[in-house]
Amino acid sequence: MATQIKIFDTTLRDGEQSPGCSMNLQEKLEVAKQLERLRVDVIEAGFAIASPGDLAAVKAIAESVHDCVVASLARAIPKDIDHAWEGVKAAKSPRIHTFIATSDIHMQYKLRKSPEQVLEQAVAMVKYAKQYCSDIEFSAEDATRSNPEFLYRMFEAVINAGATVVNVPDTVGYSTPLEMFDLITGIRNHVPNIDKAEIAVHCHDDLGLAVANTLAALRAGATQLECTINGIGERAGNAALEELVMGLMTRKDYYNATSGVDTTQIYRTSKLVSSLTGSQVQPNKAVVGANAFAHESGIHQHGILANKNTYEIMTPASIGLAQNKMVLGKHSGRHAFEDRLISLGYSLTKEKLDEAFEQFKILTDKKKVVANGDIEALVQQKTADIPITYSLARYVINSGNAITATAAVSLISNEVSKEEVATGDGSIDAAFKAIDKLVGIDFELEDFALHSVTEGKDAQGEVMVKIAKDGQVYTGRGLSTDVIEASVKAYINAINKMIDELKLVKEVTSSGQ
Ligand code: KIV
Ligand code: ZN
Repeated sequence: MATQIKIFDTTLRDGEQSPGCSMNLQEKLEVAKQLERLRVDVIEAGFAIASPGDLAAVKAIAESVHDCVVASLARAIPKDIDHAWEGVKAAKSPRIHTFIATSDIHMQYKLRKSPEQVLEQAVAMVKYAKQYCSDIEFSAEDATRSNPEFLYRMFEAVINAGATVVNVPDTVGYSTPLEMFDLITGIRNHVPNIDKAEIAVHCHDDLGLAVANTLAALRAGATQLECTINGIGERAGNAALEELVMGLMTRKDYYNATSGVDTTQIYRTSKLVSSLTGSQVQPNKAVVGANAFAHESGIHQHGILANKNTYEIMTPASIGLAQNKMVLGKHSGRHAFEDRLISLGYSLTKEKLDEAFEQFKILTDKKKVVANGDIEALVQQKTADIPITYSLARYVINSGNAITATAAVSLISNEVSKEEVATGDGSIDAAFKAIDKLVGIDFELEDFALHSVTEGKDAQGEVMVKIAKDGQVYTGRGLSTDVIEASVKAYINAINKMIDELKLVKEVTSSGQ
């Protein structure tokens, strides 16, 4: 049977104490309520002694969270423990989490105490906390750099004093997965009363191994995993909850362990924490990064469309994301392009699809990610079928705020290219005047509008131009990442429509003669 693992979330304590991640009371409460919906087992609500604001937040969380244990951190000194209890005592399931450093370097330079003094203090403070609360977690700070023999003695003593959870923090992210496995195995084999307590593990990510170390500890028998949402925390952060939980779920065959977390709340929780702390999630972050369920290369997209299991080991729905993201970019193939068109409601003939795909490929050279709006604009151009009397060969503009704009435009008509030069009031005006010279038809420019089809610096601009002749208005559209090019294309498009209509009139007139 799978082992039931407890998830101890310290986003509101270790996470919140990291640079730039502080939250106010209301924000902490919002996160705590969301962690409750996520169904973590323990919420470490804060470090009550740190400030009156921290104490108030711990209290407010203790009062409003009902389905999780609510813990507060305390150094192994009476006043910290008093504050921690003050904070959590209203909770349905309160916990005091007390800690003291056990590594030589911390005992000698930070605490200036001998190992025996530290051991004595730890035991005394666990007993002190126990008079308030039955659920006591003891953490041996910097455990992974501590003498294992001393750690075994320490854990045996604090368990005898009443600790219900003994935590093994890799405080400075120094350990490796194999070492972590051996340490937890050593604790299980050398602490005689270990069966009376739960083994917890709390890993930092200084060498990028927090999740790997935590999972190695789990394999060795740790049953409480400490973590934070998005991996926020001191320095490089803590083990990321979403990675641990999805690791357990996706590789249940390997870990044979489950957590009670409602994974469909993961995405929402991640978003909430990043928006409240202002700490952005990197795009390639496992599980919750913007690219975690995005597929761009043609080969991958083809595979995903054929069978999602080809390139997705977990479903977007399992973390609460509606669907995966097929990023259409320069690596995308025809399959993905066609699939997107269908999902946007377009069904094109093979020729039209070929043309649209060609345009799409040209666009991907200019624009990293092609959005739905871009595709719709492309296809709408392709579906509006009119004979092409003039097409743009090239244009050159010379413009600035202290010179008159000059445009040289070449148009192709009947396979012959002709060029004209004109000056104007700005680049677009000059380009339009050069086109007027080439086309040689009298008409009025009625309207000109430019809007951005999508967002971002590389967004495509769509220009809409209206020209009028003999009371008839012709609308042209042009699309490009360059607004001048979009304008020129729109103008030519309107002219082609006008010529097409004029020819039509001529034909009708001539057949009636
Ligand atoms: O990293 C650490 O050692 C801690 C303890 C206080 C648990 O956060
Ligand atoms: Zn920590």
